[in-house]
Amino acid sequence: MILVTGGLGFIGAHTTAALLEKNQEVLIADDLSNSSKEVLNGIERATGKKPSFVELDLKNKTEVTQLFNNHKIQGIIHFAAFKAVGESVHKPIEYYENNTVPLLNLLLEIKKSERKIPFIFSSSCTVYGEANSLPITEEEPIKPAQSPYGNTKQIGEEILLDATQALENLNVISLRYFNPIGAHPSNEIGELPLGTPQNLVPFITQTAVGLHKQLTVFGNDYPTPDGTCVRDYIHVVDLAKAHIAALERLENQLGDHSYEVFNLGTGSGNSVLEVIASFERVSGLKLNYTIGPRRNGDVIAAYADTQKAEKVLGWKAKQTLDQAIASAWAWEQKIRS
Ligand code: WQD
Repeated sequence: MILVTGGLGFIGAHTTAALLEKNQEVLIADDLSNSSKEVLNGIERATGKKPSFVELDLKNKTEVTQLFNNHKIQGIIHFAAFKAVGESVHKPIEYYENNTVPLLNLLLEIKKSERKIPFIFSSSCTVYGEANSLPITEEEPIKPAQSPYGNTKQIGEEILLDATQALENLNVISLRYFNPIGAHPSNEIGELPLGTPQNLVPFITQTAVGLHKQLTVFGNDYPTPDGTCVRDYIHVVDLAKAHIAALERLENQLGDHSYEVFNLGTGSGNSVLEVIASFERVSGLKLNYTIGPRRNGDVIAAYADTQKAEKVLGWKAKQTLDQAIASAWAWEQKIRS
């Protein structure tokens, strides 16, 4: 059984669907603080299979111990975390508690276990900050975090690196996501931001359905071709498939205990204006947007060098920006219908 923490979240739900499609047995542990149980039904409609589910506060050590006592956990994909960069600046203590205590509780259970337990950590390109060179490889130096959120991802990776050196039965892969977007082709699962979305693509699709008057582009005076920031937007289904490849690698590596890191992106960057143009192309609509001031904390450009994931995991993103944007748009229209 594969434990997927935060499995009702955006990337967690798509990864659970990919695991079920590979006939893996999945147990989702989620505290529903930023997700809804309805996603379970969406996963079942998308795949024809339903994962097991337990509502759980992973910060509660006793509950985590009970989880391991009640289930034969043979692998862990740890998504559960708060992930809003801006919010983390205003709520640092909650972010450090929520994004590290569950990780420690999981590791303490692994330490007690006799079994080798493959562990995949949901990390982020945020750990690089403003990279010195592009595209960004895994060897890019880690910069001091620009937000408590980014720092919790750096701390999580450091905890796991030290833990793999101490625990014979732990091997870990940290996956550094670039910008996940889009929705499952079944249109039964997708991004469900609670409240006003911070991220670009859900804000675009919500503006197009009339939830917002207009999109504000946060600055067009950056040193980029069209003046707007550049990011590596990766289809969430491609991202989910990378987790399957990482799990297979760990399951085949049961012989040793190691710590590896992979950047997960498409390998190409698109500007904010190019994403808007993509949306207008796939939807046939004109998006109402205005140019506003820069947003604090934004890096100018970030896109992945994907060679390591291609060579070692045998994984490469396949979907284009237009395909990802089209799936996000179909999902937005569905949930608002
Ligand atoms: C993308 C671009 C904005 C909204 C964050 C986290 C990262 C990961 C993905 C968790 C930027 C611009 C956005 C808007 C805009 N999350 N933008 N108007 O900041 O690259 O990454 O989400 O792991 O860790 O840092 O993503 O979608 O917020 O912004 O102009 O209303 O869109 O300035 O250039 P970001 P984003």
